[in-house]
Amino acid sequence: MCGIVAYLGKKNALEFLIEGLKILEYRGYDSAGIAVLNENSSNYNLEKSAGKLVNLINLVENKDIKGHLGIGHTRWATHGVANNANAHPHISNDNKIILVHNGIINNYLELKRKLKEEHNINFYSDTDSEVIANLISVYFKECASIKTAVIRAKEEIKGSYALCVISPEDPDKIILTSKEAPLIIGLGEDDELYCASDSSALLKYCKQMIRLKDYEVAELKKGGKFEILDANNNLVKQPNIQILDHDPLHLDKQGYKHYLLKEIYEQAAILRKLFETHFNKDLNITFPNLNTKIFEGINKILIIACGSAYYAGLAGKTFIESLANIQVDIEFASEFITKKNLLVDDKTLLIAVSQSGETADTLSAIKLALKKNVRLIAINNRPESTLASLSKDSCIFTQAGVEVSVAATKSFLAQMFCFFCLALYLAEIKSPEKKEALKKIKLQLHLQPQIIEQILARAEVYKQKILPFAEKKAFIFLGRGINYITALEGALKLKEITYIQATAYPAGEMKHGPIATLDHDVPVISILTNGDVYDKTVHNVMEAKTRGAPNIAILNDGNDELDKEIDVILRVPVNYEEESEFYDLLSPFVGVVPFQLIAYYLAEYMGKDIDQPRNLAKSVTVE
Ligand code: M6R
Repeated sequence: MCGIVAYLGKKNALEFLIEGLKILEYRGYDSAGIAVLNENSSNYNLEKSAGKLVNLINLVENKDIKGHLGIGHTRWATHGVANNANAHPHISNDNKIILVHNGIINNYLELKRKLKEEHNINFYSDTDSEVIANLISVYFKECASIKTAVIRAKEEIKGSYALCVISPEDPDKIILTSKEAPLIIGLGEDDELYCASDSSALLKYCKQMIRLKDYEVAELKKGGKFEILDANNNLVKQPNIQILDHDPLHLDKQGYKHYLLKEIYEQAAILRKLFETHFNKDLNITFPNLNTKIFEGINKILIIACGSAYYAGLAGKTFIESLANIQVDIEFASEFITKKNLLVDDKTLLIAVSQSGETADTLSAIKLALKKNVRLIAINNRPESTLASLSKDSCIFTQAGVEVSVAATKSFLAQMFCFFCLALYLAEIKSPEKKEALKKIKLQLHLQPQIIEQILARAEVYKQKILPFAEKKAFIFLGRGINYITALEGALKLKEITYIQATAYPAGEMKHGPIATLDHDVPVISILTNGDVYDKTVHNVMEAKTRGAPNIAILNDGNDELDKEIDVILRVPVNYEEESEFYDLLSPFVGVVPFQLIAYYLAEYMGKDIDQPRNLAKSVTVE
């Protein structure tokens, strides 16, 4: 979604603004812009362009844009279509306030009317952001301080915002404020100050950062000076300086054609790292950032998340229920917040799952639940995120590194892995006598990275088998039990990056309705890995075959009994020892990888924008 960058230092601001916006491209956007204040004059350059960043780069390339202070933005359209007028930065009627804004202002129509009626202000865009620029300019006229004008405006605006405000009248300052939208100050070398809505834009430039808290206002000044005022406008004497320690290699394709492919290939290493983090040499489970007292006396577990993180949560529910014998509820975050009666209290363990830690629906759901005193655990990939700050002593970090491609891959597997550890831990607390049996499962969990590597070595085979289906308009994914979750994630990946309609059903449900849609043009992809649900799923696959649907299936090596029945077989190694009671719980760890690969190869063949699919944003910061 929208991205903000800003710079105040000794270099030419434009350089970082463009580099920073390039890094933020992964978040998804549909227009971009910059504003740079010229030195020693009240002149400025404001350039914006609909479409991809390259349009803006072409625009600024031949212009002489020089200045040490600037702001930049990538916009993901909410209020108003993606055109030049709606692109940021926005400027007030009197040309004195220029700003970029992430978030949504709920009372912008009321403010717009007031500004029109009382101050004769005209509007040239459909955005809520232009309203804020003019509101600040009205106060700026009265008090001649941008900081005070921003403070007065923030008292009036309702909604969520990360604002970066500059003025040609006061060309040495950037004013920031935020509420329910991330905004980070980066401390660079040589008295340079940076700002971004996503820390990944700062990685190359800063080692330290400060995250603005809700309602805080920061004033960045020349010479690396800054001050932060808290929600009550008192000076923050010791701002919380955090270390920025992501590996910049995550922002490099490292020879892969797309980030998505690179991230698929990183999965085995991530699971190895997670295993090392959570298991000691005796295979006892530890959680370095979690106070395990949180589990004492809980009587309910509720998982909330969105998208792929929700599917990882579904896997988590199955792991905890199967291994620890504890019932788990799960809700889409966006649905949880609509509930009239939240059935949670201080004995509820809320597990929030999010790669970005910035998803608005998830954060809103958490805030509502926290009002009911729930105990919160976060399964989160970004230690500097809002979610991490909400769940200080109780984070399980997925350690997947920055995930650049919009479609989740490595974060999904890492989330499932963390849930598996949690399920094993809860199982051991509840039934210590099962410790030896659980040890067997831990050993099998340890094997997953090498099996994933064996699957990745077959990527070319999967590609050749799936390309003949590139012209199909719709796919159905089938799986039972834990494999239904693999089907859901497989269908989501295909939809997101190829734009082909793909729907997942629990295999047994197909005959209750969806079977009507089958014909020779709707391939059915099923997961037929060994396990308790294998036989019944085979029956459902045969029901589809009889209706003329082409069938594709994931089968384990060594199972050749369906060779004549299945049109296209995608083979995966057996990833568990069958004598263990819960052996097939591990199957999504390998089942999902061929699905990621086939979605990738179909999208690549179809020439789609794989890392930044249309209409999608990496972290969805609006509800
Ligand atoms: O950052 P989050 O994990 O909270 O994001 C949740 C979803 O928006 C995300 O998983 C989305 O569904 C992805 N595009 C899936 O590939």
